[in-house]
Amino acid sequence: MSRATRLAPPAVLPEDLDGLHRVLLGWYSASARDLPWRRPGVCPWGVLVSEVMLQQTPVARVEPVWRSWMERWPTPADLAAEPPGEAVRAWGRLGYPRRALRLHAAAGAVVERHGGRVPADPDELAALPGVGGYTAAAVAAFAHGARVPVVDSNVRRVLARLVQGRELPPPHLTRAEVDLARALLPRRRAATWSVAVMELGALVCTARSPRCEACPVLDRCRWQSLGRPAYDGPPRRGQAWTGTDRQCRGTLLRVVREGPASGVPVSRLEAAWPDATQASRCLGSLLEDGLVEQAGDDLVRLPA
Ligand code: ADE
Repeated sequence: MSRATRLAPPAVLPEDLDGLHRVLLGWYSASARDLPWRRPGVCPWGVLVSEVMLQQTPVARVEPVWRSWMERWPTPADLAAEPPGEAVRAWGRLGYPRRALRLHAAAGAVVERHGGRVPADPDELAALPGVGGYTAAAVAAFAHGARVPVVDSNVRRVLARLVQGRELPPPHLTRAEVDLARALLPRRRAATWSVAVMELGALVCTARSPRCEACPVLDRCRWQSLGRPAYDGPPRRGQAWTGTDRQCRGTLLRVVREGPASGVPVSRLEAAWPDATQASRCLGSLLEDGLVEQAGDDLVRLPA
């Protein structure tokens, strides 16, 4: 038996799918947050930028950065015309800054391969540098209305509870979860359905303290009907931060970002972190990732 099968047995679809669609789509139209990338008329580039930013960062931190990014670079060609370091600078403190380089590379590929227009086809999207399966599906659905499953961590948790009767999904995405999300898509308004499930996970069916009393589909929830059993799957890894290389890299990158465009002395970077060995290792990895570059013997700057 494969690992995926063991972790996620085939789901029994809810009985009244039409009713489920109606209730959740109704809840979404009454309760969804008014987020700028969801507004009618937002271009596919705006959706791509939002999805890359939102993958590992909360909405409240993404919103101001997304707005200024779209003001400065309203099309992929605008971003592609700038050096990659400008994308890293504008990324600010969103975290996981390799995403800025990936967006810059994707913008260049959109210009070269697609005449500057973000493609609609999920395979063409997934072929762009740094665009993975999730982002490709999200852009195809939210920007172009494609009927494809969009499965992020909120969707995974909602479907684990609502359909599988489990508190949490398995640690890593399985094919069974994507198949389940596909089987649940309504014929019409599939993209709105996906964002509605996402929104339920963000606002009500949260990871730690779900607000079940406010849930529009409480009476259809398998986890609820089983008495909300606790998660009993394989261990899930949390994201450590304090003292990690990720924190150290973030600190060093901030010093470079806030320093002169000509570069910052390595000694200043080393002084910005208490552990010299770790600082040196992290500087090496930032150079290797292309997030910073050497500008002379002892200077480091954003990539020009
Ligand atoms: N709306 C569309 N995509 C979203 C996402 N990934 N997170 C939050 N809201 C969204």
